[in-house]
Amino acid sequence: MSAVTSAAMSDAMSLDVRGLSIAARAAGGRTVPLVTDVSFRIAPGEAFGLVGESGSGKSMTALAALGLLRRGVAVTAGSVRLGGTELAGPGRAMPAGVRGRRIAMVFQDPMAGLNPAMRVGEQIAEVLRHHLRMGRAAAARRAADLLGEVGIEAPARRARDYPHTFSGGMRQRVMIAMALACEPAVLIADEPTTALDVTVQAQILDLLVRMQDERGMALLLVTHDLGVVAGTCHRLAVMYAGRLVEEGPVGEVFDAPRHPYTAALLAAAPENAMRGTAPKAIPGTVPAPGAYPPGCAFGPRCAHARPGPCDTGPVAMTESDGRRVRCARAPELALPGVPR
Ligand SMILES: Nc1ncnc2c1ncn2[C@@H]1O[C@H](COP(=O)(O)OP(=O)(O)O)[C@@H](O)[C@H]1O
Ligand code: SF4
Ligand SMILES: [Mg+2]
Repeated sequence: MSAVTSAAMSDAMSLDVRGLSIAARAAGGRTVPLVTDVSFRIAPGEAFGLVGESGSGKSMTALAALGLLRRGVAVTAGSVRLGGTELAGPGRAMPAGVRGRRIAMVFQDPMAGLNPAMRVGEQIAEVLRHHLRMGRAAAARRAADLLGEVGIEAPARRARDYPHTFSGGMRQRVMIAMALACEPAVLIADEPTTALDVTVQAQILDLLVRMQDERGMALLLVTHDLGVVAGTCHRLAVMYAGRLVEEGPVGEVFDAPRHPYTAALLAAAPENAMRGTAPKAIPGTVPAPGAYPPGCAFGPRCAHARPGPCDTGPVAMTESDGRRVRCARAPELALPGVPR
């Protein structure tokens, strides 16, 4: 395939989030912005981490891409596109036949996505029958194969078991098998290992990365844990108070973060304890939506904040050598990173 054709194809199947803003309806007809002007693109075969403390707007961004925002929460600007298909935009509903087929998801709690009264093999087979119109016998066989592919032993027998007979990690494997059933172009995983034991977490991440790589999917991995991104993602974006504050290749961002919030997250990572550096908690908390300070939203917690550049008006995102950062002082700061 020529370089031009392959670039065009990769464009065609990229997940493209552009200028996405999301708001919630509040009392008195007010709207509260939850996500503001978020842009990123994930190419086929690329694993992209979306990181930030709880309450940053990560899940809202993921849910918008899946067309699963709750009632009262809506996209107010921008778009999410998969190739030529617009998945989300103001007043736009998710087109039929996309979610579960071209774009699939894995959430924190696998039990929430499983029907406790139905055998796991039947649940996967149902997805195949619904989206791909497979016949009953073929769907059952494929469901068992998928369970085997995600590392479930004796898959043909286990397909006949109910969800409660599986451990948390095995249930998450079942969810991954179900998500992969229709060979989606994009997989969105929102805190997929947060509810699991530490030893199981690593196995599930390995599985996700292997599946993403083998199938050439675009993976959006949402997590509050930078350690999760370190071994799994090619690029990452850091989110704070509903906005992206930094984006770039994982290795470069870990080596030399350009935003004080990224540096603070790296210093707070528990992995630092293993390197003999005590993890340093970030003082304060993420501001609540609707109560963002004027100027840089991270200002009140930032050790580098200065009157003037940091608190007069919104801080713009700047881009250079494949990296983006939203910090008025970025060019003059030399922030410590963490070797991976
Ligand atoms: N219906 C709603 N009305 C107002 N605020 C909401 C609503 N739903 C979520 N939020 C707020 O939106 C913010 C972003 O939430 P979320 O995307 O779940 O964060 P994250 O996944 O990064 O932890 C949070 O502060 C949350 O409390
Ligand atoms: S703009 Fe100022 S307050 Fe915000 S992160 Fe940069 S230095 Fe800190
Ligand atoms: Mg979340």
